[in-house]
Amino acid sequence: MNRIKIIKNDITTLNVDAIVNAANRSLLGGGGVDGAIHRAAGPELLEACRQLKGCETGQVKITEGFQLPAKWVIHTVGPIWSNGLKDEAALLTSCYIECMSLAKEHGFKSIAFPAISCGVYHFPVNQAARIAVSTISDLLRSNDQLEVVYLCCFGDEVFEAYEKALDHCKL
Ligand code: AR6
Repeated sequence: MNRIKIIKNDITTLNVDAIVNAANRSLLGGGGVDGAIHRAAGPELLEACRQLKGCETGQVKITEGFQLPAKWVIHTVGPIWSNGLKDEAALLTSCYIECMSLAKEHGFKSIAFPAISCGVYHFPVNQAARIAVSTISDLLRSNDQLEVVYLCCFGDEVFEAYEKALDHCKL
């Protein structure tokens, strides 16, 4: 699936229609990629997030990107890994489905995802990468407008997991 590109970068620097934020249910900021996005977008993002009154796990809400190069931020809440006992795989799949569905609704041409739940939420990286790649590639088949989906990561572990998952998907 050549519309999926794996990149190592700070997601806050990307000039795309939308970046995805791996947020928590309060949507009021936090550490990791969430903290970086709030810092780069400026205080208006927190103001906009306050109006949203939180978000359930596996769901999404959208705001403008304010001072980010990205026009929009799709906030999603990934599951906290609990040894696979709390429907985490289905909830993570739902995050990708809901983000892709908003992207389609808005006619976005480009979107970038961080590795949702792969940081402090401790979702196993290989499984998360397989979920990301398979869900996104399925949904790209019914979306001609979306030209590129970046899987944006920081560390080598996530990068390699994405490469493996993408290779597997091409077979
Ligand atoms: N650009 C791209 N990827 C990043 C960046 C960045 N600037 N910063 C971190 N990552 P995490 P989670 C990677 O912990 O596991 C927050 O406090 C990071 O290396 O940000 O979904 C929220 O408020 C990792 O691979 O998100 C929630 O409380 C991935 O992004 C909680 O963390 C996700 O790591 C959500 O936890």
